[in-house]
Amino acid sequence: MTETITKADSWKMFNRIARRYDMLNSILSFGLHKSWRKRIGRYFTRNENQVLLDLATGTADVPIILVKHFPEISKAIGIDLAKEMLTIGENKIAKFRLREKISLSEGDARQIPFNEDSFDAVTMSFGIRNVEDPLIVMREMYRVLKRGGRALILEFSMPAIFFIRVFYLFYLRYAVPGLGFLLTGDYEAYKYLNHSVEKFPCGSVFCDMFSEAGFVNVKAVPVLFGVATIYLGDKD
Ligand SMILES: C[S@@+](CC[C@H](N)C(=O)[O-])C[C@H]1O[C@@H](n2cnc3c(N)ncnc32)[C@H](O)[C@@H]1O
Repeated sequence: MTETITKADSWKMFNRIARRYDMLNSILSFGLHKSWRKRIGRYFTRNENQVLLDLATGTADVPIILVKHFPEISKAIGIDLAKEMLTIGENKIAKFRLREKISLSEGDARQIPFNEDSFDAVTMSFGIRNVEDPLIVMREMYRVLKRGGRALILEFSMPAIFFIRVFYLFYLRYAVPGLGFLLTGDYEAYKYLNHSVEKFPCGSVFCDMFSEAGFVNVKAVPVLFGVATIYLGDKD
């Protein structure tokens, strides 16, 4: 496979790798990815009966983990453009008997198919670097949040400590595409992962965009020495 994957149609690539996506996540992150997603829940407000929207939900790990561990979330909706990813997610939701609390549908994070002031929290994990213009998505998050609601974005970032960054870049550039190819036969998909991570803005640059979208109390919380970061912001 020698095609170049663009951000605008990266979701098609996720359709292709959907069946192996969860397994690869576990292998490539040494099993850490679930605890990173769970950590998002620590930064929710503790209000009762929260309705959550998860953008670029993929195979629905975020809504599943958050609904299981945080009873203050009474309902969660996940949207994604990749139908095959959603099908895997639907099966997991059924397996965990969470159909009453979680629903999934096709939808674009750049044009969220919900009215303004609809959600208490909006999350996006490892999704925003896959869209051409992150600011458009942030503005959409802001639009659909209720006043006092919170947006939480988990995304890969660059560790600040030099030797950790060198090790991480080596892992991203060589081990990830190699392992991805061995396990899925799709070298381009995992080369795309490393390109999209290295080129994506992180830290204060990302926080500035979040503020520009209208959010207040914007904060960046590094995860595992900054390999990933949780960004949060509130709608005033
Ligand atoms: C790396 S996966 C992350 C999936 C999930 N959030 C997780 O934490 O495992 C990125 C997802 O973004 C989706 N995606 C890409 N562009 C999108 C868009 N414009 N709107 C909605 N989903 C999109 C892809 O289809 C894919 O499922």
